[in-house]
Amino acid sequence: MIPRLSKLGDRMSQLTGVRAIMKDIIETLADTNVRWINLSAGNPVILPEIEQMWQNYTAEFLAADSFGETLCRYGSSQGYEPFIEVVADYFQREYGWKVTPRHILVTPGSQSLYFYAVNSFGGLNSRGQMQSILLPLSPDYTGYNGTSLDPTALKALRPSIRYLGDHRFKYIPDLNHLTIDDGIGAVLFSRPCNPSGNVMAVEDVNQIAASAADRNVPLLIDSAYAPPFPNLVYREMDLVWAPNIIHCMSLSKAGLPGERLGVAIAEPELLAPLQAFQANAAIHSSRFGQAIAAKAIASGQLAKFSKTVIQPHYRHKQACLEAAFGREMPDDIPWYLHVGEGAIFAWLWLKDSPLSDVDLYRAIKKEGTIVVPGQSFFPGLNEEWEHKQQCLRISLTATVEDIEAGVAAIAKVVTKTYNSAMATVP
Ligand SMILES: Cc1ncc(COP(=O)(O)O)c(C=O)c1O
Repeated sequence: MIPRLSKLGDRMSQLTGVRAIMKDIIETLADTNVRWINLSAGNPVILPEIEQMWQNYTAEFLAADSFGETLCRYGSSQGYEPFIEVVADYFQREYGWKVTPRHILVTPGSQSLYFYAVNSFGGLNSRGQMQSILLPLSPDYTGYNGTSLDPTALKALRPSIRYLGDHRFKYIPDLNHLTIDDGIGAVLFSRPCNPSGNVMAVEDVNQIAASAADRNVPLLIDSAYAPPFPNLVYREMDLVWAPNIIHCMSLSKAGLPGERLGVAIAEPELLAPLQAFQANAAIHSSRFGQAIAAKAIASGQLAKFSKTVIQPHYRHKQACLEAAFGREMPDDIPWYLHVGEGAIFAWLWLKDSPLSDVDLYRAIKKEGTIVVPGQSFFPGLNEEWEHKQQCLRISLTATVEDIEAGVAAIAKVVTKTYNSAMATVP
């Protein structure tokens, strides 16, 4: 039977953003006659020390007296109390933030947190006026695409591009064009950024936060890759917190993506509508992951392993990828890697590319390597901009050998593409 969907049901049943291309990628990888080099994955690597840590805390929890009370009962829609207390204590102690348990909300993964927030703060308000969700630095996380029940609510700003030499560049938010007025319901960005690996400068974060505060607008900082866990940053990075900031964390890249564990830290009145949304949608997040994460955070082991195991693993991959690009790519082609400041991806910009990102993806696939075309990483940026079709996202989750072989395949296709375009210029 094919059900009759509502307009909303129809919209939410569409694959948005990168998930549409992921369908093609999954079908491609299903062909096991080819040894694919998969540089598309967003799934973090299972690192043995991290897996062991979660196994140890799980064993401890299974034997604990609190097992039944934790798993065999419903709990508060705010989250599991011992976990909330540990998170509040941690941020008070380590960052000096004046947070109490009332400042914490736990959600089933941070994706659901963005879903609640985008629809609570964005869309038509009770006066019939549109409140947009502003993404001040595009490109940004493709998953924001599917969060809004009103597809027109996301509004992104095109960045400035800073050339850094040696085939490197960095996106900078164009604060001259940043206007936060009553038409904006919330501001949202990832820091570090998926896909570009950009870490927005603290001064820019402060300026955006202050402009938003002037108009009573919440600012959500998606910290899925930030310190203290998973701490996927390769430069100095300070966290920023202010009365209008909702600091959003995820335990996914710290080894628990399957447990779906997201955390928001903010003033209680900012969290109240999100908690109510969650009570309606899901009652509360699973308490199993919270129980073991409480132990890993309280002991300090999660923060320690983030710094000593998770971060060095991806830092090494990033260095190998950059070295491979240096070796494989010709100097006379305008290729640029975004400076790798954090997260688990490299972001390649092929300026004036004769082929679009999707055509490049197809050509690279013919060489046995899968990357992700960049165009779905510009949620809310509706204007024409050739840059949107000139980028590729390359995952750092593959082995070093695969990263190096994949970069060689990318270089081969890119070189051929630019050379044949030059050859046809009259
Ligand atoms: C920037 C960013 N935000 C949010 C998420 C969603 O994470 P989760 O729902 O697993 O917490 C991801 C996942 O890859 C991400 O890259």
